Amino acid sequence: MKYVLIALFIILALPVSAEEKNRGKEIFTTVCFACHKLDRGPNMVAPPIFGVKNHYLQAHPDRDGFIRRLSSWLEKQDPEKSLMPGALRRFNLMPPVVLTPEDRVAVAGFIYDADFSEPSWYAEHYQKEHGPK
Ligand code: HEC
Repeated sequence: MKYVLIALFIILALPVSAEEKNRGKEIFTTVCFACHKLDRGPNMVAPPIFGVKNHYLQAHPDRDGFIRRLSSWLEKQDPEKSLMPGALRRFNLMPPVVLTPEDRVAVAGFIYDADFSEPSWYAEHYQKEHGPK
């Protein structure tokens, strides 16, 4: 019986996580990507996603903590809780996004798992903002 339950759990859990992954990607490309690009550009309105992810990873290397922090930012953009005060000064506060709690978790998980490659200018920029590591 125990093994039947475990097998059932695995069968049920797999499609859900694949679905959540697709959902996270879909939200990222349809909502976030309008402002958060992969690289810098002439009409940049928000920090590139690599920089956002890097700041959240520095503070929360574990997946759960990362997702909790990022989804709470998506729920409410509280300047007191910002991990990117430099971006806040430069771009002003991020406007609210309307997402369900499940969608906030899905997109935060997608960002944690995604493999955004580091833009060539990033290391120098980070050092300027934060000093040598
Ligand atoms: C209309 C433009 C816009 C959209 C859409 C947008 N953002 Fe932002 N976001 C910004 C700007 C501007 C900042 C930098 C200022 C700040 O931190 O509030 C920012 C900052 C952030 C930060 C860092 C917050 C901090 O200061 O610690 C995170 C995390 C973030 N965005 C995630 C997302 C995600 C995920 C989405 C999609 C669900 C998204 N953003 C959609 C404009 C946007």
